[in-house]
Amino acid sequence: MTLTMLYEGKAKKVFSTEIPQEIIIHFKDDATAFNGEKKDVFADKGRVNLAFTRYFFELLNPHNVKTHILSFIDDVSLRAKKVEIIPLEVVVRNYAAGSICRRLGFKKGMEFEPPLCEFYLKDDSLGDPILCREHIRYMDGIAESDLSVIEESALKINTILSEHMDSFGITLVDFKLEFGKTCDGEIILADEISPDTCRFWVKGTMESLDKDVYRENKGDLISSYKKLGDILGIKF
Ligand code: TMP
Ligand code: ASP
Repeated sequence: MTLTMLYEGKAKKVFSTEIPQEIIIHFKDDATAFNGEKKDVFADKGRVNLAFTRYFFELLNPHNVKTHILSFIDDVSLRAKKVEIIPLEVVVRNYAAGSICRRLGFKKGMEFEPPLCEFYLKDDSLGDPILCREHIRYMDGIAESDLSVIEESALKINTILSEHMDSFGITLVDFKLEFGKTCDGEIILADEISPDTCRFWVKGTMESLDKDVYRENKGDLISSYKKLGDILGIKF
């Protein structure tokens, strides 16, 4: 099978396949933070993040959340539907952490009830700026109705994941999703869900089991990811 690389991102590579509407996504061992300012390689990270993505996407399947994943090829790659990625980073926040504390001075750990759903422009050259709906109205290709579908889906995913993590003594603090449009115009969940794209705190201690360990130099990234995996019973 001839694979042509279509795109290389910070943590993944995307290849075309023999089927035009399908792609292969390869999870790299690279970690970046602060829009690529901080960059390192962690052996095993791709494999660990793919295992988390598999776990979380399979958790969503019975809840009728449509996703891009078709099958898993090996430890570090999966086959997915080719979609046109909607250039938004959709962030759901249950508790204050990260950029919202820096930007608005909110105290870390403050609860958002109801949860916040924010949109950021997916554009590294502009530093992924936060958007309001009024801005999105002037962007090509994102209809108001698309935005409502995305927000509803993101909040539904939040409910499913939060309740699940809660039952293991873990708080889902916030996370980022990406959505794509299929050739039939359907909006489905794309990208990944892993400790790279979520914040998870151990209940009671606020210990981070996610990429904040790397962003804030709080310890060994892969050990923290594997600790979370052990709590959830994920086999790496
Ligand atoms: P933030 O607090 O830095 O805005 O991040 C909010 C959530 O989104 C957090 O769980 C990390 C995730 N995230 C990504 O997955 N990719 C990114 O590029 C950024 C900035 C955040
Ligand atoms: N993934 C983003 C980056 O490198 C930011 C982050 O996750 O903090 O640059």
